[in-house]
Amino acid sequence: MEYFDARRKPHNIGKVIVALLFIALCIFVLKQSPGFGGNSVFSRHEPGVTHVLVTGGAGYIGSHASLRLLKDNYRVTIVVNKIFSENAFDAVMHFAAVAYVGESTMEPLRYYHNITSNTLLILEAMASHGVKTLIYSSTCATYGEPEKMPIIETTPQLPINPYGKAKKMAEDIILDFSKRTDMAVMILRYFNVIGSDPEGRLGEAPRPELREHGRISGACFDAALGVISGLKVKGIDYPTADGTCIRDYIDVTDLVDAHVKALNKAEPSRVGIYNVGTGRGRSVKEFVDACKQATGVDIKIEYLSRRPGDYAEVFSDPTKINSLFFPSGNISDPDMLEILLMKKCKIVLSYYIIRDVSGHMNFTCKNVLNSCVPTCRDGSMGT
Ligand SMILES: *[C@@H]1O[C@H](CO)[C@@H](O)[C@H](O)[C@H]1NC(C)=O
Ligand SMILES: *[C@@H]1O[C@H](CO)[C@@H](O)[C@H](O)[C@H]1NC(C)=O
Ligand SMILES: *[C@@H]1O[C@H](CO)[C@@H](O)[C@H](O)[C@H]1NC(C)=O
Repeated sequence: MEYFDARRKPHNIGKVIVALLFIALCIFVLKQSPGFGGNSVFSRHEPGVTHVLVTGGAGYIGSHASLRLLKDNYRVTIVVNKIFSENAFDAVMHFAAVAYVGESTMEPLRYYHNITSNTLLILEAMASHGVKTLIYSSTCATYGEPEKMPIIETTPQLPINPYGKAKKMAEDIILDFSKRTDMAVMILRYFNVIGSDPEGRLGEAPRPELREHGRISGACFDAALGVISGLKVKGIDYPTADGTCIRDYIDVTDLVDAHVKALNKAEPSRVGIYNVGTGRGRSVKEFVDACKQATGVDIKIEYLSRRPGDYAEVFSDPTKINSLFFPSGNISDPDMLEILLMKKCKIVLSYYIIRDVSGHMNFTCKNVLNSCVPTCRDGSMGT
């Protein structure tokens, strides 16, 4: 026993010393790594490097934008608290916000707080830390339901739901403030954003309780997968050709492209306001048909009464953004919807194949083999 103990003691001390050395090494490595303390490259402005704060960088659009900015060698920071004092930002892309029309009619205060008050806080923080460029995510909901289609940037803004009103107020605050500073401001008014990263690295995944309010593209794939029992089309008595609402669906990849262009074209003391849409309106019924086509599933449709806060028809005139940001092409091909849904189908299906949860799936490779899924053979699941 004696002998054994005598041998163990120095061995333990040795272990402690090794552990302490390891901890010290970890602290050293951490301190060297970007983002720790005040001495990293993130806390200095550097010529030729644009450091962008992306609020909502973990959200649907913000994550797509972050991925793209990183790919284009921008320096990117995602998060918010105390972030301004620890970093030298050149620009802010403000995505973080709630964004469901239906939900906004039920929880208006949350919407005014999360959208309008938070924009005010961001502007104050930018002003006090000398951040010079703001790329702001606004929405076609600020126009409400204009008499004339398509919507141009000077179409009067008369929002009809708390979501649109909160964004309109936020825009007004930004515009008033911009008159008094040399801040470069770009306001992008999004139409209906759909799709996801073409390489499948990111997707839309609304919180479960939001599936009810959710976007049509998510709902249509949920229905095809059998995650929900079918699609609920809200309103078939709108004054449109087939009675369902008409929207302008823009691919998130094109939207993010517009943000990068906006960042590059932003000029001190100037405000740019741009519609970001394809220019073509598609009805909910057309969307559902395209989704059935893409997935090969005869999705069950339930027709319900109108959703509060919705408008019949909204689509953009993208002439301004096309001529200023995309002179040699256009932001988006207006006829892309069908192709976009097929691409999305492929990504959704490969996601489930990778995770081997094919058991609860309704759509099979057989249905979508030609249009969608190169990963499967002989019409069987490629698990
Ligand atoms: C606003 O809402 C977004 C999306 O739900 C969320 O990520 C963000 O943290 C909210 N901001 C605040 C300050 O509540
Ligand atoms: C999916 O499968 C379930 C169970 O077999 C069925 O009840 C449901 O109707 C199917 N959904 C669709 C959209 O085919
Ligand atoms: C861009 O859009 C305009 C107007 O819709 C159209 O006339 C033109 O053909 C489009 N250009 C390209 C390259 O698709």
